[in-house]
Amino acid sequence: MKVLITREIPQAGITLLKRHPEIEIIYKKGPPLTDRQMKKAVKDIDALIPVIPDQITKEVITSAGKSLKLIAAYSVGYDHIDVAFATKRGVYVANTPGNLTEAVSEHAFALIMDAARRISEGDRFCRNKKYKYWDPMLMIGPKLRGKTLGIIGFGRIGQQLARIAHLGFGMEILYSDPIAHFEGEALLDAKKVELNKLLENSDFVSVNCNLTEETKHLIGEQEFRKMKPTAYLINTARGPIVNEEALACALKENIIAGAGLDVFENEPKINHTLLKLENVVLTPHIASATFEARIEMATMTAENVIDVLINNKPPRYLVNKDLISSLA
Ligand code: DGY
Repeated sequence: MKVLITREIPQAGITLLKRHPEIEIIYKKGPPLTDRQMKKAVKDIDALIPVIPDQITKEVITSAGKSLKLIAAYSVGYDHIDVAFATKRGVYVANTPGNLTEAVSEHAFALIMDAARRISEGDRFCRNKKYKYWDPMLMIGPKLRGKTLGIIGFGRIGQQLARIAHLGFGMEILYSDPIAHFEGEALLDAKKVELNKLLENSDFVSVNCNLTEETKHLIGEQEFRKMKPTAYLINTARGPIVNEEALACALKENIIAGAGLDVFENEPKINHTLLKLENVVLTPHIASATFEARIEMATMTAENVIDVLINNKPPRYLVNKDLISSLA
């Protein structure tokens, strides 16, 4: 049985798979596969382990042929996979939920601190030899205690971010989410509000929801105009939730004070205006890049593969649950 891994992942996952001699691992360790290379590489495989930038389209799934049983995403997000089409073809889609809650929420908070206290901007200032004398008015930013953090999407990551902000830094928490999270509300004194109210009342707005048809461009020009001119936008979820062109404009025209971004609308491309602005901190989609999270992602991905190929059952972290009911 053939398993294609499209990029290098931590050894923990490979070691688990290698315990099963029935599994032949096809391991691509170089740069990302082009669409053409991907369609060729997937032919006759039993399971595919793709990473975030791999677009697993109808065509890729069809190219794999009838042998394909599982797409085991090396990620929590699966917006790069045509799940509906996989389901139609009877192919399981699995992911790695829960393992990067700390990593991503810590990174989101690091972006809040960096943007507010101008860490990266100060670093550039020093390296560019602009630090000539101490100046009382240099690079002033807001303190965090008592400020309001508005969290869009109050799932595992959103709630962990709220914990760090509220319990560690004394911030007030607002959230918007289709579902009410009463435990989070009680423990963190968080208040559920409509998105517009969150935008109007927050000093920091953090995007922590999934990318879906409904959340694409959830934050655009109108939303930036609702935010305080002193507010910051943080995005560690998915780039297309924020209209990047509108964000660049809002930052350039000081409609909002700043931003911290780990994800971009057309990754790895970044809007050229953003690259020139001082009031935005940029990181290359590394919010989940802790040793612990990456190793756990590799382990969970391998477990998904073993469940299906060796134990002949659905993957433990199944995404397209409707597939089971349609098979029953
Ligand atoms: C995920 O798992 O969805 C992250 O964005 C990639 O590490």
